[in-house]
Amino acid sequence: MSRKALGILLLFFSLQVFGEEIVFTDSEKSLLEAFTPWPTVIPADPGNEYSGLKWAEALGAQLFNDPALSADQSISCASCHQSSKGFSDGFALPQSGVAPHVRNTQGLLNVGYQRWFGWDGGADSLWAASLRPMLSDIEMGSDIEGIATKLRDTTYLTEALEQNDLEIAALDDETVVVTVAKFIGAYMRTLASGETSFDKFLASLGVPDIEVRYPLSAQRGMKIFFGEGNCFVCHFGPNFSNGEFHDIGRPFFTGVGQVDPGRFTGIKRVNNDPFSLAGNFNGTKKEAEILKTTSVKFRQVNFGQWRTPSLRNLELTAPYMHDGSLQTLRDVIDYYAEIDPARLHSKGETILKSFTWSEREREDLVMFLKTLSEK
Ligand code: HEC
Ligand code: HEC
Repeated sequence: MSRKALGILLLFFSLQVFGEEIVFTDSEKSLLEAFTPWPTVIPADPGNEYSGLKWAEALGAQLFNDPALSADQSISCASCHQSSKGFSDGFALPQSGVAPHVRNTQGLLNVGYQRWFGWDGGADSLWAASLRPMLSDIEMGSDIEGIATKLRDTTYLTEALEQNDLEIAALDDETVVVTVAKFIGAYMRTLASGETSFDKFLASLGVPDIEVRYPLSAQRGMKIFFGEGNCFVCHFGPNFSNGEFHDIGRPFFTGVGQVDPGRFTGIKRVNNDPFSLAGNFNGTKKEAEILKTTSVKFRQVNFGQWRTPSLRNLELTAPYMHDGSLQTLRDVIDYYAEIDPARLHSKGETILKSFTWSEREREDLVMFLKTLSEK
């Protein structure tokens, strides 16, 4: 029997497609348990004493939209992170920064579920991830003194601080900027997305007499995602991200002779970051959180690894990958289908292999991914 025929036969049995009904086995159902519940509680921003305080979240939302945080007062966080696009910008690479960038603007929905931030995990909290763009010479191009000077004249901020017994004049420049970053961190933690048709379908599985309309094509795609595709291994848990770093073989050259080594630099960044949880500005000083930061060490294997992205609300955040190099979800599926394991970077993931997916199977996977977006 040819490989293809065998594949089709195996698929037939593993899918258990009888007529129009698709059956999920008990072992599939127990695996799917790990992808519930949704929505679920988002942990507090680590080291952020303002996380969870309503007034700080509201202030953070205002600051997120305030161009005062950039060098020439023309760029706000929202210039790149637009709410209508799941807080991404729709470009392969950002167009609003002070200089050309080599990484795709990440969407911010559900970002609080992550434990490392940035494609390379270069920040260990949402507030540290907020300081980075302000001080970055390719994003907002500002500096501590410049930002603090402008913030001291920002009436909505000084008034809100006073109402909460904080006197801006009593704080040094660095503390002013860190405090504001913590408000923004508190706000970003609230950016959670809601229930999707996938979540409704999952909740209905195993509940007698409940019927949820969920396209058969998506169900077939789901079987591949949680089956032979092995996608669930990295895109794991209710947020479809294991929060860890992997090399799926996307190019890391950013120009002639230039590379973006991903996690390799991310770990160095955390180690050298004065605003990490190991530094003086950690406002909650939780042992376990500090240990997470101090125990991270880089190894050669981290070269070319990127944090597994969440797959929720992908319909809002095209194009895809750390460099925005794939335009559509179909392009992503075609990429996975045609991976050449021999050409994966030397330390590539052994779990990845190429597939002989038909046109229909590829479309089924795309359909499944689309059901992870809110409609
Ligand atoms: C010029 C465009 C641009 C601006 C302005 C910008 N960002 Fe970003 N943002 C990015 C890019 C690009 C990344 C990915 C960076 C990386 O991986 O190194 C990112 C990543 C992030 C992340 C990590 C998301 C994740 O999933 O881990 C957070 C949080 C974030 N930005 C918050 C902010 C905040 C807060 C501001 C304003 C203070 C801001 N950004 C301003 C482009 C921008
Ligand atoms: C070995 C872990 C791993 C496996 C297995 C895996 N992925 Fe990924 N996935 C990643 C990583 C890491 C990235 C980001 C890579 C980059 O930016 O270069 C990614 C990116 C993506 C993206 C783009 C998301 C975005 O926001 O840019 C989609 C969609 C996706 N994967 C779907 C799948 C599907 C479908 C499968 C199964 C066929 C799969 N993944 C298997 C780790 C994995």
